[in-house]
This record gives sequence, C-alpha cells and structure tokens, in this order.
Amino acid sequence: MHKKSITIIMKTTRTGYVLLSILVVSLVCFSACTKKEPQLGISPVKKVVAGMTLEEKAMLVTGTGMFMEIPDSIIAAMASGPGGPGGPGGVNPFQPGGESQGDSAYQAMVERVRKFVPGSAGRTAEIPRLGIPTMVLADGPAGLRISPTRKDAPGTFYCTAFPIATLLASSWDTELIYKVGEAMGNEVLEYGADIILGPGLNIHRNPLCGRNFEYYSEDPYVTGQIAAAMVNGIQSQGVGTSVKHFAANNQETNRLTVNTIVSERALREIYLEGFRIVITESQPWTVMSSYNKINGTYTSESHDLLTRILRDDWGFKGYVMTDWMGGVNPVAQMKAGNDLLMPGRPSQSAEIIKAVKEGRLDEEILNLNVERILNILLQSPRFKGYVYSDKPDLKAHAEVARQAGTDGMVLLKNQQKALPLGENVRTLAAFGNTSYEIITGGTGSGDVNEAYSISLVTGLKNAGYSVNESMQEEYLKYIKETMAKKPRRPFFFMMGSAPVPEMEVKLATIRKLANETDAALITIGRNSGEGSDRKAEPGDFYLTDTEKSLIKTVTQEFRSKGKKIIVILNIGGVIEVASWQDVPDAILLAWQPGQETGNSITDVISGKVNPSGKLATTFPISYDNVPSAKNFPGIELPDTAAREIPGDASRPSFMRKVPAEVVYEEDIYVGYRYYNTFNVPVAYEFGYGLSYTTFEYSRLQLSSSEFNDQMTVTVNVTNSGKVAGREVVQVYLTSPARKLDKPAEKLVAFGKTVMLNSGESQALTFIINKNDLASFDEASSSWIAEAGTYEIKTGPSSRNFKLTDSFNLENDIIVGTVSKALTPQREINKLHQK
Ligand code: BGC
Repeated sequence: MHKKSITIIMKTTRTGYVLLSILVVSLVCFSACTKKEPQLGISPVKKVVAGMTLEEKAMLVTGTGMFMEIPDSIIAAMASGPGGPGGPGGVNPFQPGGESQGDSAYQAMVERVRKFVPGSAGRTAEIPRLGIPTMVLADGPAGLRISPTRKDAPGTFYCTAFPIATLLASSWDTELIYKVGEAMGNEVLEYGADIILGPGLNIHRNPLCGRNFEYYSEDPYVTGQIAAAMVNGIQSQGVGTSVKHFAANNQETNRLTVNTIVSERALREIYLEGFRIVITESQPWTVMSSYNKINGTYTSESHDLLTRILRDDWGFKGYVMTDWMGGVNPVAQMKAGNDLLMPGRPSQSAEIIKAVKEGRLDEEILNLNVERILNILLQSPRFKGYVYSDKPDLKAHAEVARQAGTDGMVLLKNQQKALPLGENVRTLAAFGNTSYEIITGGTGSGDVNEAYSISLVTGLKNAGYSVNESMQEEYLKYIKETMAKKPRRPFFFMMGSAPVPEMEVKLATIRKLANETDAALITIGRNSGEGSDRKAEPGDFYLTDTEKSLIKTVTQEFRSKGKKIIVILNIGGVIEVASWQDVPDAILLAWQPGQETGNSITDVISGKVNPSGKLATTFPISYDNVPSAKNFPGIELPDTAAREIPGDASRPSFMRKVPAEVVYEEDIYVGYRYYNTFNVPVAYEFGYGLSYTTFEYSRLQLSSSEFNDQMTVTVNVTNSGKVAGREVVQVYLTSPARKLDKPAEKLVAFGKTVMLNSGESQALTFIINKNDLASFDEASSSWIAEAGTYEIKTGPSSRNFKLTDSFNLENDIIVGTVSKALTPQREINKLHQK
C-alpha cells in the first residue's frame, strides 16, 4: 500500500507554533479497495481512468461546491439588512436552491475536503480508492485569498496583499514580477493550497471595466510578458496557476451572459495574444474560461477556443476550469475541452452521466477531461504529500510587496523637481480621505485578507515625517461618522463599501496648515471590483467638484507660501486628469500598492526610491475619447425567457442573467494603437513615466538593413542626470500596410536597465522575430508579414521616440497558419483606416 505522511503544524499562541499532531494520511485505500485497483502515481494515468466508474469520472470533473466562509460579524450584520449572500431572498448566489446534494458518501467526502484551507474558492473531489486526493483552488491574483481566521483552529492565516496587477505591469520589470510570483506561490504552498486562481490577463479595453485593477495592460505584449513572469515565479514553488479569464472578458456588466461580438483579427492580435504568450512561455497548470460568450458561444462551451486555439494552435498541456458557475451546458463544456466545472454541482455530474448513457457524450471525451485533471494533480503539493507549515515568511514577503509597490508607481508630473520632498520638508499636511483610509487593492474575489495595511500617514510617520494631527483627527472622525450613516450595499462583503464622499475642508484650515506645515499631499482615491463596472461620472472616472476645489484651494494657499503641493492617485483604474493636471506641482500615480501602500509611497516621495514605472495603459483626455466608449458595456437584449428566471431581477448585477451583447467595433484599435493611429491627443500616453533623473538614448543599431529570420536591435542608454535610476526602454514597430490595416505603432519589445548611477550607460539588446512583423489575415487564417519598409522606434514612451531606424522585408512571409475559429456570426462595423 502506498502511503504518504502529512504533518500538520497548527498555531496555538500568537507567538508560538506547536506541532500538534502528525496525521498519517493514506491517500490510497481508505476503505474497500483491493490491491488490484490502479493507483494514481503508481499506475499510468490512463489505467487509473480506466479503473474509474462513470460516476467517479463525472464527480471528478465537477468541483465539490462553493462553501463561503463568511465571518460571524458579517453574518450578524447581514441579519439586520440587505447584503446577505443572496441579497433579498437569502439564497447563496453560487448554489441554486433546492438542488440535491448527492448521496451520503458523496456528502461525507464533500464535508471532508471542505476542511482543507478554509476560505478557498473551491476544491475537487477525492477518490481515495484510486489514490486521488483533492486539489484546493484559491483566489488570486493580488495574493492568496483564504480565511484569515478559523473557527476550529487557533492562530491566524493572513496572506500578503501584493500590489494590484496594473501596478505590477507598470514596473515593466519581469524579474521583479518573478520575485513577486515566488513569494505569492510560496504562500500558496505553505498554506496548503494547490492552485492560485490567477493571474488575470484580460485587456484594458475600456477604463471603466471594474476589474481592470486585476489585469495588466491595454497592450497584449506587456500583458503576456508580465503574466509569463508571474506564472513562472508562482509555479517555481511547485504550485499551479490558473490564467484567467479566457477570453475577451472585458467588463462586469452582465458578465454571466454578455455575448462579445468581435473580429477574428482583434481576437488573435489583442484579446488572445497575451494568453498565447503566457501559454507558450510558461505553461500554466490551468486556464480559467470566462463567463461571457464570444461570437455566440459561451467560452466554456467553445471547442474553437478551448481545443482548436488553446491546445491545437498553442500546445497547452494542462486543464481548463470554468469560472465560478460559468456557462450553462455541462456536456457542451466537456466536449469543448473545459475539463473541470467550478465550483461544481451534483446536477452537472448527473447530466454528464446521463449524457454518456444516452450516447450524447462519448465517454472517451470524458476520459480525456479526467486525464488532464489527473496529470496536473500528480504535480500538486497535496498529491506529493507536501508538509505545509501554515507559516510562510510574511515579513520577507512584505518587503517584496513594498519594493514592487515602489517600482510600479508612475510619476506623472514633477514641476520644478517638486519631488523628492527634500531635506527641508519634515512636516506634512495630508488631505483627502484616502490619505487615512488607504486603498490597498480592489474588491471581490481579488481582495486579499492581509494582516495589516499601512496608510499613507502611517508610512510617512514610519519614515520620520510628522503629519498634522488635527487634520488626521478631523478626517478619521468624518470617515467614521459618514460610514455609520451609509446604508450597507448589497453584497458589501464582496463588493466593498460605497466610497465616502471627499470631506470638505474649510479655507481657514487650509490656510492655517499652509503656514504651519512644509508641504501638502492630496490623495485622490478610487476603488472598484468584481461585479460592477465603473461610471464616467464625477466621483468615479471624473473628479468631483469637491476634489477639484480641494486641489485648487490647497494649491493656491500652499503655493502662496512657497510650499509644494503633491497629488497622489490611489486608484485601481484610469481616471480623468487633463482638466486639473496643471494645478499641483507633482502627481504621483501610486495605484493600489497592497498592504505596504503607505511605506511604498513614502519611499518614492522621500527619494529613497527613484520612480521607474511607466504607464501600461493610456490616460485619455476624456472618456469620450476612448475608442470603445460608444460600445461599452453594450446593450441588454429584449425580453426573452432568460429574463423570467424567478428572482433574477432582484439578484445583484453580477449574478443576473439578462441576455446582452457588446460589439467591439474599435477592432484592433485598442489603447495607444487607436490614439496614435488616429492622432487623438491624450493626457498621458502609454509607456509614459518620469524619473528623478534623465536618460539619453544613443547608438541605435540594427543587425541588418534586410530582414531575414530575425533582427537584433541594440540601443545604448545613459543616465544623464544626477541621481541613480532605471529606465524602461521600449521598442515599437511601424509596419507597411499594403493589404492589411496596421496601427501606427505596435510595441514589440521592452527592457528595463539595471540601476544606473549618474553618467553610467547600459546597452540593451532586443530580438525582433518574424512573429513581431506579422498581422492576422482573416481570409487565410494566417499571420502574414507584409513586404516593405519597417521602422524601429525606440524611446521612453509610445509618443516619445528618441531614435528610429528602418529595415526592409523583401517578400511577404506567411509566419504561421492557425485554425479557422471563433468567426463572428454577423458583420461588424469595424473601425479601419482604409
Ligand atoms: C471570479 C473569478 C474567481 C472565482 C472564484 C469568480 O466570480 O470571476 O475570478 O477566481 O469567482 O472566486
């Protein structure tokens, strides 16, 4: 008999850890098995699958249900008003009521596996007689999301809240991201989970998507490179990732039903490309299909997407899981190659069994789904019997979070070197609610349960600054009182509390502080998350009048005393800045940097760290300028049966099933591809970001003036300023547009210098491949590099090209032909140049 030992270390006191018990778990033969039965890890996987009953197979491809760990305090709060798990009606939104929970043996199994890592989003079924343990899947992506305390165990189980994905991408530093991944993966491992549900790599199609903070960029190349580094970092710890949400899931409005109507070219070049890169460069253990439909088919039911593209075209080796309750037809999901249905319901297993018996589902397909799950399970720490500690090194990980936080902040404006604050600034006046109630990350499943979060004022004090105390008291009192008066939002424990309107500060107070302190900091905060999109309104995309007048009045008063005014943007997604950016001296885009927020911001404004982040997403002048503005978030379709789902209208927006559609008319012109091609001015362009030093570019060299198989591009960067710093060097390509439309520029490579001291230089080398030259031709389903002259443009942003050169491609090259897939069912009125 094959046995594995799992040692469980449990916390008994806040400071000490005592080995309570050594639990010998037999992963095999719990009960009535005979030695003849195949065992996972000993027998070949195919043999194990052959030894499974149909019922067991159907059970393995559906998760063990959603078990929401809701703290007692929240349950008590829910009892007194709206905001329960099901809102009005009190139904758990993830579990349709009245469904049979299977037989008692099944229920006992479910009860057993649910005990693993409380607060995880889901678990797969275990089948002890075949040596098949459960697999624990937990969110993601800004850190591991599990319950921080447990009813039946002492101690705490906090995880590190790392900076949000958008900040991480703004570092353009794949080595840093790998480090963050290592730390995050280590917490997954040490808390006993197997797979983290992230990273998220949907494209920032529109700044209002409520989950943009969980995603990296408007550009698929940046997205793919950063995601690959993250997956490699996490998986280096022996745990898995689930890259999500595959694909074209770029909004929260009607997320369960929306039909994304999009061209094959935009899919291949924009919405799938980041996933292609991450699959081919880092082989994530799993992929999570998204909720939406693409061109009429749910992604989880799309054979085109999950088999032809993901596996046949890209060579994905792992398994695909649904998003939680995604799609409707379990049989179609199995056939499509969506191997695991999460969180899983017995009725889905029952339907799969029935379909096999009735000949609607070939058992060979089901076998393949099971095989894929088992192949990944074999690599998992739980299968290997890893002895987890429940004690990751949170202190070391906090340091990683702090450093990553600083490296992804973007200095948007720095008039007369207002930053760093300098020796003479010791006492600060901090304005803005979020200087005190800092936002460390977004809401929903991407929210991490961290042990603490450092507010801006705490970070400042930690670094020896003094912060005006009476202002602090006034803000904290105002925030507390306003919160107490606000009605609770439905689903507040998932969607967060509604924001507290910015406090109005009296002119006399500002005047007094302008006299008494050395500089003013004004924090503007925004939050959003799973379940709803943002609005192009004051208080969200736009600043409110109170915020604008706060910036204006504080600037007037402090400037009249010769003192600096710094605005700090504590936001998860893009906001409008054009109408007020001229006012303050400096603007630091801090994003939402995780639990170390206040320390990270202080590191940058004090000059301890020289900012080196660059925008991975454009800041447009106004919302109307956004290419997808008129097609976001689409429309709800006329009454149909789906509207008649009882109680549907009363469900929170993210659980409603109203048929809807969105048409991606902007096509490939997303982000800077649009603004640059159509000469639309922007507030801050893609790739932009200042430093406390300056850089010079020199000696751009191409390996040849004719393109053969590859081209090498070298460029030299010198720190021409006075302090040490790092530069993100970007390489854009302008391609000939003979047959196909081409964006004015496309990012094809980037690199970040090492820390360069004043006067130091570094030569960076980039390889340009055939792929980089190619565009997707729908007529032939192939990637084609058109003959002609290509321009290489290098510089610090997508609108600041320091050096350019060109090369020639003699003849068209067909770089690769792929599956004809995901064809739209109707004409799309696409934006185009020709
Ligand atoms: C989200 C996923 C998440 C899952 C499990 C879904 O609602 O869309 O991103 O991983 O829940 O919590």
